[in-house]
Amino acid sequence: MPGSDFLDPVWAAWRERVVDYLDRMLPVTADQPGLLHSAMRYSTLAVGKRFRAALVYAAGRHTGAADSALDVPACAVELVHTFSLIHDDLPAMDDDDLRRGQPTCHKAFDEATAILAGDALQALAFELLTSDSALAVDAERRLEMCQILASAVGTRGLAGGQALDLTKSSDITMESLANMHALKTGSLIRASVALGALTGSADETTLGHLDKFADAIGLAYQVIDDVLDGTVSTDVLGKDSGSDRNADKSTYLTELGEQNAREFAQNLHERAISSLDSLSTNTSLLRELAGFTIYRTH
Ligand code: IPE
Ligand code: IPE
Ligand code: MG
Ligand code: MG
Ligand code: MG
Repeated sequence: MPGSDFLDPVWAAWRERVVDYLDRMLPVTADQPGLLHSAMRYSTLAVGKRFRAALVYAAGRHTGAADSALDVPACAVELVHTFSLIHDDLPAMDDDDLRRGQPTCHKAFDEATAILAGDALQALAFELLTSDSALAVDAERRLEMCQILASAVGTRGLAGGQALDLTKSSDITMESLANMHALKTGSLIRASVALGALTGSADETTLGHLDKFADAIGLAYQVIDDVLDGTVSTDVLGKDSGSDRNADKSTYLTELGEQNAREFAQNLHERAISSLDSLSTNTSLLRELAGFTIYRTH
C-alpha cells in the first residue's frame, strides 16, 4: 500500500500491542494438549495486517476509550478472524496451502487439529470479552459486545456468508455477490468498529454513522481481496494467489473485471468517508484506514 506517514506509526504500535496481548492470552504449548496450543499460536501469531484490531483501536479512540481497554476487543476480533482463516483454508472449504506467509494450519499440523484450533480460538474470543477485567465496561455492555460479535460470526454473518460462498450458483447477481461479501467479511469488520466504539462512550447517532462507515469499508475490503487474488503474486500476498480462479469462484474480479471492481470499491470508499462527515470529532485515523482498504497492495 502507499504508506501513510500519519497512520503507519500508529498502526504499527497497535499491531505490537495486540500481538503482545494475544501472545499473553493464548494457551502455552507446554500445557496439554500441546499440539492444539501450538496450532492456535502458530496461526494467530503469524504475520497479519491486524486490520480489524486497528479498527477497534481507531473507533475506540474516537469514542474516548483507553488503548488498555481496547486490547480486549482487539484480541477478540483477531482471534475470531484467525479462526475464520484456518477454517476457510481447510480442504472442505478453499483448500489452500499457504497463509500469512507460511503453510496453512492443516498443512503444518493436521486437519483435525486445525478444526479444533479454530474452535478454541473462537471460544477464547468470547472468554476474553466476558471475563477480562482490562475491558473496563459494565456487565450490560459486555453482554452487548458479546451479542454483536456472536451475530457477526453466526448465520447472519461470517458463517452464513461462507456457506453462500461454497454454494455454486449459476445465476450470481451483483446483489447476491455483495450480500455474500458483506456477510463473510463485512460482518466482522462492522463488529470491530462497533466493539471499539462501545468500549468508549458513543451515542446512538455516532454508532449509526460508524456502522454505515464500517458497512462500506467491509464490503470494499473483500472487493479488493478478490482483485488482489487474481492480480498479485503469492509471494506478495503470503497466501495462494489465484485461489478463487482455481476454485472457479464468482468474485468481483470475475464479474466486473479489475477496473470496474476497483471503481466499485472507490465508490464504497466515498460512501464510507461521507458517513464520517456527520461526526464532529477527529476521524482522521478512520479515514486513513478506509483509504487502506482500497489502496492496499496485499
Ligand atoms: C483475509 O483477511 C481474509 C478476508 C476476510 C479478506 P486479511 O487480508 O485481513 O488477512 P490478514 O489478517 O492480514 O492475514
Ligand atoms: C474469506 O474470503 C472470508 C473469510 C471469512 C475467511 P476468502 O476465501 O477470499 O479469503 P482469503 O482470500 O482466503 O484470505
Ligand atoms: Mg473463502
Ligand atoms: Mg480463502
Ligand atoms: Mg480471497
